[in-house]
Amino acid sequence: MQTKKMTTKKIIIAIDGHSSCGKSTVAKELAKMLGYIYIDSGAMYRVVTLFAIRNRLIINKIPDEKKLIEALKQVKITFLWDEKTGKNTTYLNGENVEEEIRQITVSENVSPVSTIAGVRAEMVKQQRENGKNKGIVMDGRDIGTVVFPDAELKIFMTASPEIRAKRRFDELQGKGQQVDFDEILKNVIERDRIDSTRETSPLLKADDAVVLDNSNLTRKDQLDWAIKKVKAITEKNDC
Ligand code: DC
Repeated sequence: MQTKKMTTKKIIIAIDGHSSCGKSTVAKELAKMLGYIYIDSGAMYRVVTLFAIRNRLIINKIPDEKKLIEALKQVKITFLWDEKTGKNTTYLNGENVEEEIRQITVSENVSPVSTIAGVRAEMVKQQRENGKNKGIVMDGRDIGTVVFPDAELKIFMTASPEIRAKRRFDELQGKGQQVDFDEILKNVIERDRIDSTRETSPLLKADDAVVLDNSNLTRKDQLDWAIKKVKAITEKNDC
């Protein structure tokens, strides 16, 4: 593929932005085209949240921080990514939890878990380990600001809350789940609030990130836009 030839020097691509704005779609497609690793950092916080729920370490959306940090030793997060299909599967201690971590119970509890500094420190450590050989696309909230501040390409994605809620509603309904649009919209707005105002690593656009507002863009528009950005960097690097 033309794009693979062009990227002789591998780079790190950090994609941050609000929840449900299609970061993972762009990230996965980019990784597939470039032959890069893809890591969904949100999935990592979701796995920790699922573990906390199952082990009663979070009650009424309040995590037991000390016990949860202590229990992180028992949480092994792995991904299996099929490069051909672009499908990503998340595992918790070898168990496929890809479906379960996307359910509303996890979505409702993940923000408080992701505000815990000790949880973030462990996730960031694992994320950096994954990127040590470059050739990686990672999406999340703090990838360009904290995890990889020296990433060659930083993209900050956004879209209106209503559009994001509609996308998540369609996705969950498509999977046969019974969902309520207003509940999802409320969850999207609440997660924006927590993600942007938390003390540790709030969602911020890195100064050197390029903004992609995809409210009215197709998947192809977004991918073309991102590929152009990658090309501009890799062609410069190869000179
Ligand atoms: O991208 P997502 O909606 O699956 O992320 C789930 C939660 O994890 C979201 O509330 C924000 C949090 N998160 C984070 O704090 N830092 C990241 N790098 C990725 C996700």
